[in-house]
Amino acid sequence: MGDVSPIPDVVAHRGASSARAEHTRGAYELALQQGADAVECDVRISRDGRLVCVHDRRVDRTSTGRGAVSGLTVAEMASLDFASWHDPARTELGVLTLDELLGMLRDGGHGTRLFVETKHPARYRGLVEHRLAELLARHGLAAPRVRAEAPVLMMSFAEAAVRRFKLAAPRVPTVLLLSRISRARRGGVLPEWADLAGPDVRLLRADPGFAARVAALGRDTYCWTVDEPADVELCRRSGVRYVATNRPEATRSHLDDP
Ligand code: G3P
Ligand code: CA
Repeated sequence: MGDVSPIPDVVAHRGASSARAEHTRGAYELALQQGADAVECDVRISRDGRLVCVHDRRVDRTSTGRGAVSGLTVAEMASLDFASWHDPARTELGVLTLDELLGMLRDGGHGTRLFVETKHPARYRGLVEHRLAELLARHGLAAPRVRAEAPVLMMSFAEAAVRRFKLAAPRVPTVLLLSRISRARRGGVLPEWADLAGPDVRLLRADPGFAARVAALGRDTYCWTVDEPADVELCRRSGVRYVATNRPEATRSHLDDP
């Protein structure tokens, strides 16, 4: 394959999550300092109906608390420390809400884009996607004039979630995430409600022509999680548009100086 692809944009996965605890203010601040083009976050719904940035169903792994995110209010999570599990020298009290993260990007993001992944879509039957569309509208982010420059993109592994979100916020670009074992969309053929393909990097290793087939349809590829230099190189050479990485600084240096 010819080496003519543009340099992919660097997406800080869960913030700069190798150096700082994932989904904390500190992780996103560092990603912004390191010049990430975009950041990624996972969202779940709290007991009081707020979207909060947590990957797992429970807070146990990433905080000093216990319990399902959906069983706790934001106020109850205010006393939990979400940083010390990663680095005992750091403390960050309170869960990061999506509202807060949008505010951080507005005030200090200098154009940094946000990829929001909705979690547990089936159990809540679209509530997370509905709340996301509402929140983006409240922040004036639901109707970008130029879709290719949209400040926020929505993603999910669940086709039903992406479809539902697209109905609620048609101007916001969507990414259909594909795991290594996703069979249905492996060919790179996307439905009209998914603007980008989002393969696991292991899928790309097995099928390096994937991104080119997506590009032939006029769509872009977002690939995750791209931490190894060989994978960064694979993405660059195969025409991936966005690489999601836990190590934005190292990934950026590799892309700038392969
Ligand atoms: O960016 C997509 C990727 O984050 C999906 O996997 O488990 O890290 O949310 P996960
Ligand atoms: Ca994610």
